[in-house]
Amino acid sequence: MSLDPKDWQDFKTLAHAHLDTLLSHVENSAQGPVWRPVPDSVKTQLAEPPPLDGQGLNAVLDDFNHLVLPYATGNIHPRFFGWVHGAGTPTGILAEAAAAAMNSNCGGRDHGAILVERTVINWFCDLFGLGPKAGGLLVSGTSMANLQAVAMARNKAIGATARTCGNAGLKLVGYTSIEGHSCLTKAFEVLGLGSDSLRRIPVDSSFRMNTEALEAAMLEDRNAGRIPFMVAATAGTVNSGAFDDLPVIAALCRSYDLWFHVDGAFGALSALSPSLRPLTAGLDLADSIAFDMHKWLHVPYEAGCILVRDQTHQIAAFGGRPDYLLTGQALAGGDLWPADLGLELSRGFRALKVWFTVKELGFDALGAAIAENCRLACWFAAKAETNQMIHLMAPVSLNIVCCRLQPPTLNPDQWDSFNADAVAHLQTSGVAAPSTCRIGGKVCIRICIVNHRTTEQDMDILLDALTDLAARAK
Ligand SMILES: Cc1ncc(COP(=O)(O)O)c(C=O)c1O
Repeated sequence: MSLDPKDWQDFKTLAHAHLDTLLSHVENSAQGPVWRPVPDSVKTQLAEPPPLDGQGLNAVLDDFNHLVLPYATGNIHPRFFGWVHGAGTPTGILAEAAAAAMNSNCGGRDHGAILVERTVINWFCDLFGLGPKAGGLLVSGTSMANLQAVAMARNKAIGATARTCGNAGLKLVGYTSIEGHSCLTKAFEVLGLGSDSLRRIPVDSSFRMNTEALEAAMLEDRNAGRIPFMVAATAGTVNSGAFDDLPVIAALCRSYDLWFHVDGAFGALSALSPSLRPLTAGLDLADSIAFDMHKWLHVPYEAGCILVRDQTHQIAAFGGRPDYLLTGQALAGGDLWPADLGLELSRGFRALKVWFTVKELGFDALGAAIAENCRLACWFAAKAETNQMIHLMAPVSLNIVCCRLQPPTLNPDQWDSFNADAVAHLQTSGVAAPSTCRIGGKVCIRICIVNHRTTEQDMDILLDALTDLAARAK
């Protein structure tokens, strides 16, 4: 029984109207609140049981427009400053629709989608200067990319038996800074290394990994009979956007024979901007790089990437297929399948939205949008610095301002909860959506600018709202 529409013309009319709704939603993204809580009535309606009789597309679209679309995270709005969320583009909508129309399974075989992914991977290997043996894979996000990097590093350290015998009782240890992302801890956990085996190295006053402490920790581990196997440096830490000293860490990894991984979730794409590119010096020395296209490339969720300097390590860690999947002739052809390079067999056509975005806008415009976000962060920080109520908590290394309201009308021991409440208030009022983090144990307002739609006016609205909140504190 075909599930296609009975009347294609009717369907196309509805579909075109739906596309108009979606495009207008993005066109008017600056209007209305950044975020609004989902009312209880909507929650109840969404918790419906599955219908046995279909309701028809008209009813589904109506429900979507009223129950789902108004309650988005808000990251397409120019005053969304929370976490590290990309803003999307209208072209992303078309690319997602195009990928759905093709409905390609990108685990492997011989078809155009595989070639598009290979092209996209080559673009980024070249951008980061990874050399002729490089390769990679699109994954759901940097958490998954970091997991795959740790797996490759572990397998290289253990050798051929890594996949058959596991860690075999070897005491492998890796290193990241205390500012390294929490997904690295999870990677160590799920790979059976244990989170204690990921050493958290202290940082300096700019939140960069202390490389002397790193070397000392490696030596201590070695002397104790443990096996240091990787360093996960960060290009753009999640709290403050700090870049570890990649060339120095690369040199340490080379002299102690460790895998040099860089978590560049958003910061790696600074390489697209001529003015920011110097920050990424040393990225070309990495054994692997994890980063996201759904952050600073504005590709719709999800699109992350793991790149590796020598793709043989990726094949060694993830290659191997059962008989029914072996490379054959015609459609079953193709030399290297994405399934040989990662954990997933069935995979969507993530590469298409990256391909659309980069081809439509070009690396230069994407880099300029990144540079503008960083300019706005410095501009905001300079203004905040002259404001008695606002205290900057970290240097602005990239696109993140970490600050704290310190109203003199409150006791300093009330400032933590005051700042947490201030962020919740801004979100709930719909004016802006920063998030929180802790710097030196203190709750901060974290303003992360990842949106190509954000302007100076938006930053001023946020600054006024913060000043107003602090002035009214009692
Ligand atoms: C430095 C860093 N690493 C890893 C991640 C996790 O990335 P994802 O959310 O794409 O899995 C993030 C997320 O913000 C991040 O900033």
